Amino acid sequence: MQSVKIGGTNWTASNVALGIMRMGTLSVDACAKAIQAAHEAGINFFDSADIYGNDPQLGRGSSEIHFGQALKQSGLSRDDFYFQSKGGLYANSDNKITRYDSSKEQLLKSVDGILERTGLDYLDSFVIHRPDALMEPDEVAAAFDELQASGKVRHFGVSNFNPAQIALLQSAFDQRLLVDQVQFGLKHTGMLDFGFHTNMTGARSVDHDGGLLEYVRLHKMTIQTWSPFQYGTFAGTFINNDQFPELNQELAKLADKYQVSKNAIAVAWILRHPAHMQVLIGTMNPDHIADSAAGSDITLTKQEWYDLYLAAGNELP
Ligand SMILES: NC(=O)c1ccc[n+]([C@@H]2O[C@H](COP(=O)([O-])OP(=O)(O)OC[C@H]3O[C@@H](n4cnc5c(N)ncnc54)[C@H](OP(=O)(O)O)[C@@H]3O)[C@@H](O)[C@H]2O)c1
Repeated sequence: MQSVKIGGTNWTASNVALGIMRMGTLSVDACAKAIQAAHEAGINFFDSADIYGNDPQLGRGSSEIHFGQALKQSGLSRDDFYFQSKGGLYANSDNKITRYDSSKEQLLKSVDGILERTGLDYLDSFVIHRPDALMEPDEVAAAFDELQASGKVRHFGVSNFNPAQIALLQSAFDQRLLVDQVQFGLKHTGMLDFGFHTNMTGARSVDHDGGLLEYVRLHKMTIQTWSPFQYGTFAGTFINNDQFPELNQELAKLADKYQVSKNAIAVAWILRHPAHMQVLIGTMNPDHIADSAAGSDITLTKQEWYDLYLAAGNELP
């Protein structure tokens, strides 16, 4: 397992991380198996959000409740892993998300809830889940400062933010924002497509994210890629999916060459980009976790990287 320097700092973590979004309705036993599989594969970073899981009995946050219980069963100590969670989405009493809310009150409440549900003493990182149009940067900075001073949170970041939104928040905050978490993978390549089609007029030339890839490299932030095996937004995985024969053929060819799984090749494709991203996988299947983690140690050639990009249905002008 290779590591990544988060946000260009000396904080190094595995460059494949396990997201716990899908733990909400799993048994605690199954969650513990996923945690153990991740640990055995060299993954030392877990990603969460205060809203993950909406178990009928436990409600919003059930993923973190299950994680906390499973952690005890897994035998891992707090020094074995980093834990990051996200906040800033408000859910009403029916557990429905009705607004984005980056107010100080909401952020402080979010972190307290995360610590209570997981049973952890502190978070290694806390991230604003989505950009709130009514965000007051000074208020977020005040919340972050308080969270850090109290020892509840060590580092901070954002998710689904564009460069201007990052710069706005950063302008109010003395510490550096270390991560931006966005969807990226072989079937979600908008951040690349527009770069290939600069100054052209087709759909692929549309800049959907404000040049985020270049911005994070210039500012030494780490992109954490969510849903790396999904097409669409949670439409399903493209791995072994008959809808994507060309991509699966290319994945299979390289899987055979490197003697790993298709998951590993899909992970290696993300990690081959020089932005040094961190891949957030979300499978809860121990075999798929091990398969995916193996991608950390594969370095694709430039040609293989481009072949996969094209096999995914993209084009070069
Ligand atoms: N910031 C944000 O807005 C945001 C949004 C979404 C997600 N996230 C983060 O990203 C993490 C990962 O998201 P994700 O779970 O959507 O990512 P993912 O790893 O792309 O997708 C996981 C899904 O793909 C399936 N899968 C993976 N490999 C497979 C294979 N070989 N064959 C069949 N099915 C396979 C898994 O099923 P099995 O479990 O059966 O393997 C699971 O249903 C989340 O846990 C969360 O931490 C962040």
